[in-house]
Amino acid sequence: MTQRFPQTRTFTGFNAPSRIEFDLHDLEVVQGCIPGDLNGAFYRVQPDPAWPPRAGDDIPLNGDGLVTAFRFDRGRVSVRGRYVRTEKFVAERTAGRALFGAYRNPYTDDPSVAGLSRGTANTNLLWFGGRLLALKEDSHPVEIDPVTLDTVGPWSFGGQLSSLTFTAHPKIDPYKGELVAFGYAAKGETTPDIAVYTFNAQGELLHEAWLEAPYSSMVHDFGVTEHYILLPISPLVSKLDWLKAGKPHFAWDGSRQSWLGVLPRRGRASDIHWHAVDTCFSSHTMNAFEADGRIHYDTPVGGIVVFPFFPDVSGQPWDPARAAPRLERWSLDPSAPNARVGRRQLTPLIGEFPRIDERFATRGYRHGWMACESPQLNGPQGTSLGGGMTLTGVAHIDHAEQRLECFTVEAECSLQEPQFVPRHALAEEGDGYLLAVVNRLTEMRSDLIILDAREVAAGPLATVRLPLRLRNGLHGTWIGADELEARGGSPAA
Ligand SMILES: [Fe+2]
Repeated sequence: MTQRFPQTRTFTGFNAPSRIEFDLHDLEVVQGCIPGDLNGAFYRVQPDPAWPPRAGDDIPLNGDGLVTAFRFDRGRVSVRGRYVRTEKFVAERTAGRALFGAYRNPYTDDPSVAGLSRGTANTNLLWFGGRLLALKEDSHPVEIDPVTLDTVGPWSFGGQLSSLTFTAHPKIDPYKGELVAFGYAAKGETTPDIAVYTFNAQGELLHEAWLEAPYSSMVHDFGVTEHYILLPISPLVSKLDWLKAGKPHFAWDGSRQSWLGVLPRRGRASDIHWHAVDTCFSSHTMNAFEADGRIHYDTPVGGIVVFPFFPDVSGQPWDPARAAPRLERWSLDPSAPNARVGRRQLTPLIGEFPRIDERFATRGYRHGWMACESPQLNGPQGTSLGGGMTLTGVAHIDHAEQRLECFTVEAECSLQEPQFVPRHALAEEGDGYLLAVVNRLTEMRSDLIILDAREVAAGPLATVRLPLRLRNGLHGTWIGADELEARGGSPAA
């Protein structure tokens, strides 16, 4: 490589690109024991730029997707890491340099890549219908082999996706076996169009609806209940003129209000009701459900956008205190189509990356987890991916008992999104393990910890030492050993 990575925050320190693909067999367990009933694989993906950016700097959300799979087998664990061979990755490796420019701005690309997918597959992994899909919300999924992590290729549900985009946060309804998903900017970057899809367990399209959002903005996640689809709209807006002028894709416009769209699961565009919400930034979903005739949507919410690298249209500097997200429960009566959304803070803890026992997605639930700023530790600042938060803990929220407990990492450490794994298929809700990658910031390497999901404050059941650094990742998923073996692949490396 003849170019150097820039010496900026996105590309230095713990966030320096790793550019590494690896197989590490039988990792060292330095504390405790890996539970013998934890069998399967934990997949996660990290943005990891393979080439120095064309524009001299970049935002953390634009790196190439590098998938890691931790394979647990009767008390032992191995790990594999591979880049997703997106069209972007392949073209740039052939050229030996970056050809795609700024985040979601095709006007900054080398002309030679016109027409190729700009997707980086760097945000989340979905296991559905026997396919493992790497997701980025500006493009279609990319299928990867769950055993080898080799890239199979783009997957558009057999050509059934009419949208140009597909969310990185689709929802599986475990009660109906359906996949509910959407694509925003569905007719092209900065368009207000949203396409909503429902697929059956065989991947056949059951329902599709096309909507227009109140304005063009980032719609990163959404909610699904037994009967409704919920679309949160926050004013992190986009405009085509900005892209043509080489400006950032998104900017915060605090003069606009937020909305929550409520659409029946099989509804048409004319069936959606947009409920007003005080201006705020809702990024992720913990869960959504119906109870007592009302719809409830649990989401971490900040007063402004959580990302410091998107500008404010009014020129105000980004304020980490206003951006800090806290878990809220939004509630509304679907029979009152013009009602404002009621908001209630569930915890004063600052946290993000909410997760649940996904066997209870779309219905009433008891247990939730998120990475959080531990109230017991003020760690090194600004070490989380792109945000001002310092994620130094894992919080367990017991909604039934209104109880919160927190695990705090050691000093000079932070951690990434936790992943819940049920102890077995019939275990009661929340009975299982929580897996999380710990960033050992001064050692410049990573650990994987395993917690008892309902006893996180007791500390790890096991700590697995990695002899390398896993860059800050985004999201992940779990596949049980029985499902992997049904694919003909042993979960052991
Ligand atoms: Fe996300």
